[in-house]
Amino acid sequence: MAIVLPSEAAREELAAYRARGGYRGLERARALGPEAVIAEVEASGLRGRGGAAFPTGQKWRLVRAAAGDEKYLVANGAEGEPGSAKDRLLMARAPHAVLEGALVAAEAIGARTVVVYVNDRFPDAVASLGAAVAEAEAAGYLDGPLGRMRIRLVPETHVYIAGEETALINVLMGRPAVPWHKPPYPSERGLDDRPTAVNNVETLAQAAAILRLGAEAWRQSAPMLFSLSGDVARPGVFERPLGTPLARLIEEAGGMADGQAFRAVLPGGYSTPMLGADALHLPLDYESVRAAGSALGCSLIVVGERTPLWRVARDVAEFFARESCGRCPTCVRGTRTLADTLPAGEDLSPEAAGALILQAQRLRHKGICSFLDTAARFAETAVSAMSPAGAPPADAAP
Ligand SMILES: Cc1cc2nc3c(=O)[nH]c(=O)nc-3n(C[C@H](O)[C@H](O)[C@H](O)COP(=O)(O)O)c2cc1C
Repeated sequence: MAIVLPSEAAREELAAYRARGGYRGLERARALGPEAVIAEVEASGLRGRGGAAFPTGQKWRLVRAAAGDEKYLVANGAEGEPGSAKDRLLMARAPHAVLEGALVAAEAIGARTVVVYVNDRFPDAVASLGAAVAEAEAAGYLDGPLGRMRIRLVPETHVYIAGEETALINVLMGRPAVPWHKPPYPSERGLDDRPTAVNNVETLAQAAAILRLGAEAWRQSAPMLFSLSGDVARPGVFERPLGTPLARLIEEAGGMADGQAFRAVLPGGYSTPMLGADALHLPLDYESVRAAGSALGCSLIVVGERTPLWRVARDVAEFFARESCGRCPTCVRGTRTLADTLPAGEDLSPEAAGALILQAQRLRHKGICSFLDTAARFAETAVSAMSPAGAPPADAAP
């Protein structure tokens, strides 16, 4: 399946991209007009690929309907989620797919400016996108119904929280990388206080494919970039249909590392609850993963039988404690406490497990953004996964 990612490993130049249908989506979008483009993206069922899975067509409709003449499209190429490698690969190898999708989105929402935020730890992505913008400009693709589109490529030194959309907008305005409490949502008041759509770079590349293929044909292939890492033989990025069973993806990654048995998975990276061994045959689509108690996100981290769960839980908790932006004291203290009180060993008494779960529950909904919630939810589910009899009741706490 090569709908979004090209089969060659090198940067795809304009001629090669056009040879596989590139920019036909943009041409079609310009012929259809914004309303029909949004309707087509809605019909495709595309959900954001930056982690939150928000319906893309709905986001574009909100920004289009927001008051004001000046609007912005921000492409999020931050990719700070541990285990995720899909966005850097996409930007480096298929920069025109990202750019085409950004132009489609900008015209759909009524923006004349596209800002592409790229984590500067990905120099290949920065170089590829820069070359693609120059090629697209020379070929006339930036000239649309709203006039010449302005493209700002912003490589930024990255901290994890800067990938969160409001923190990212703050960074683009020269402010510290801290989120703000929503509302206002960026769709109402974002960059320069104007309505702004922030979309993950894969979301945009998928939107270009939807316009090229038509919603129905795209829906049937349902392409998704899966970043698979952890205890598999060959970690990597796989373009496969949504709904592909986890076991098949692991097989395509060469099976479990060193022949060990599958023990658990973080189906959306560090930001989502860990699922146990019975998740092996889970179809990787939003509904099935949600029904199993977790969520799809930017990366899939596989845990084998030789990796202790307590170590995974502590690594994740340490990550959150380290990456908290420092704006809310509850988040700074809460993430640190969770990391410090997770056990350093598989032994977890029902009392300790109950106390940890209670602590995690107390921290829920206490932060400015979803960061603290995510850390707390992860700790809670990791403790449950480590308890032999499943989750002990929270009132088992002393
Ligand atoms: C702590 C945190 C980090 C995030 N990091 C990223 C990131 O690196 N890349 C990304 O696209 N979205 C990231 N997001 C999600 C964005 O806030 C936003 O939902 C996304 O860019 C919207 O694009 P989409 O609708 O196309 O998914 C992060 C969210 C949080 C809470």
